[in-house]
Amino acid sequence: MAGKIACFVVLCMVIAHTEALNCGQVTSYIIPCLGYLRGTAPLGGCCGGVRNLASAAKSTPDRKTACTCLKSAAGAISGINYSKAAGLPSTCGVNIPYKISPSTDCSKVT
Ligand SMILES: *[C@@H]1O[C@H](CO)[C@@H](O)[C@H](O)[C@H]1NC(C)=O
Repeated sequence: MAGKIACFVVLCMVIAHTEALNCGQVTSYIIPCLGYLRGTAPLGGCCGGVRNLASAAKSTPDRKTACTCLKSAAGAISGINYSKAAGLPSTCGVNIPYKISPSTDCSKVT
């Protein structure tokens, strides 16, 4: 019994490790930014999240995923100031090779 559980745990770790970036993760990175993007809170932990997102999205598919998720989040969350969103990478000094905006063409992200 214990052996079976151990195998299962190892399997889960392997899956979690190889799984590509998903929207839930992308969103959780930028949640600290919402107050700032809505103009209701200071920058706070936002740049830390942006930095973690940039370092989590290392491959082209991951960057495309991150772009798509940020784009749909930007469109879905009300009250976001898009000029602040687009300026976020430079505000934080993080290199994000696309604009965070509902009109970004994520198929061009490499
Ligand atoms: C968005 O943020 C910019 C820069 O802080 C500010 O100048 C502008 O007034 C804001 N726009 C809205 C709609 O709040």
